[in-house]
Amino acid sequence: MAIFSILDASETAARLPFPELIEALREGFAIGCQLPERHHHTMARVGEPDATLLLMPAWTNPDEREQYLGVKLVTVVPGNASRGIPGLVSTYMLYNGLTGEQLALMDGNTITGRRTVATSALAAKYLSRPESSKLLVIGAGRVGSLIPDAYRAVRPIDEVHVWDMNPEASRRMVENLASDGIRAAVVADLRTAVEQADIISTATLSTEPIVKRDWLRPGTHVDLIGGFTPKMREADDATISFARLYVDTPEALHEAGDLVQPIESGLITEESVVATLRDLSLADKPARESDEEITCFKAVGSGLADLVAAKLVYRGSKAR
Ligand SMILES: NC(=O)c1ccc[n+]([C@@H]2O[C@H](COP(=O)([O-])OP(=O)(O)OC[C@H]3O[C@@H](n4cnc5c(N)ncnc54)[C@H](O)[C@@H]3O)[C@@H](O)[C@H]2O)c1
Repeated sequence: MAIFSILDASETAARLPFPELIEALREGFAIGCQLPERHHHTMARVGEPDATLLLMPAWTNPDEREQYLGVKLVTVVPGNASRGIPGLVSTYMLYNGLTGEQLALMDGNTITGRRTVATSALAAKYLSRPESSKLLVIGAGRVGSLIPDAYRAVRPIDEVHVWDMNPEASRRMVENLASDGIRAAVVADLRTAVEQADIISTATLSTEPIVKRDWLRPGTHVDLIGGFTPKMREADDATISFARLYVDTPEALHEAGDLVQPIESGLITEESVVATLRDLSLADKPARESDEEITCFKAVGSGLADLVAAKLVYRGSKAR
């Protein structure tokens, strides 16, 4: 029987340095992969909310030299809140796509977190001003806390401001950044922080707009990571209708409230989106047209990015 590697969170993270991951994503988005619909199973529980099992498969195109198949398995157990343990557990299983043999089992939360911020950094490489140095992070959770590291791989970020509705989360993130030698501060006034930022990246669970068009200065790049349902919002209608819009995949048009709501109200149309990350990666050149324009990238996440990251982890573990 084939022996396959098992990589925990820190071993998975160690094999996903941002410069390499961002470059692998550029190549991956340009090439594409096979992505069937995700499976969603509800599991009834007694005395607590239903749990969910999500299965997210992806595999390489048939003409690729190396064939891979990956499945992200995610359990969502809301009842874990009362047990004091995390409600979401994610695992990634990578197979040889030709033979179906297992290659590696890795930590899915790490894959998701790192590929998410690396995807945003890749978009920012094409969309933000090259000299962008002031980063504002809104939402200092699992994903938000990874944002500065990913952006530092593509832009000369020398100052990070952090805003979270939970002051303890902002403080913790700022302390961690400072201990890594990065100039960082907790935001005292959100409006001022938005007005001064070159890049604003949001990773919250908000259902109300946080970023307001009136606060944005010319040349800002806005990166919306958090909202993944039609009810969620991170930017206001004025930002969405004013900015040059980009998405990770066309699914964002149907899943993200930041786009679904203004499309439904007739403020923008699907054609208002200038390009996807595949288009940007294929062109592989700056897409910003002036130092003044405001750009906005909205991502909802993709199984393609998971597969790209998992391949990188596996190759790294083989090399060792
Ligand atoms: N686009 C993608 O590919 C992708 C991938 C993974 C996660 N996400 C999404 O990113 C978001 C963050 O995920 P996470 O794992 O970091 O969650 P998390 O719970 O670890 O962190 C969220 C943080 O946002 C803060 N927050 C929530 N609402 C806020 C608001 N209105 N204003 C300010 N701060 C607020 C919380 O206090 C928390 O610190 C979620 O919506 C998640 O679904 C997107």
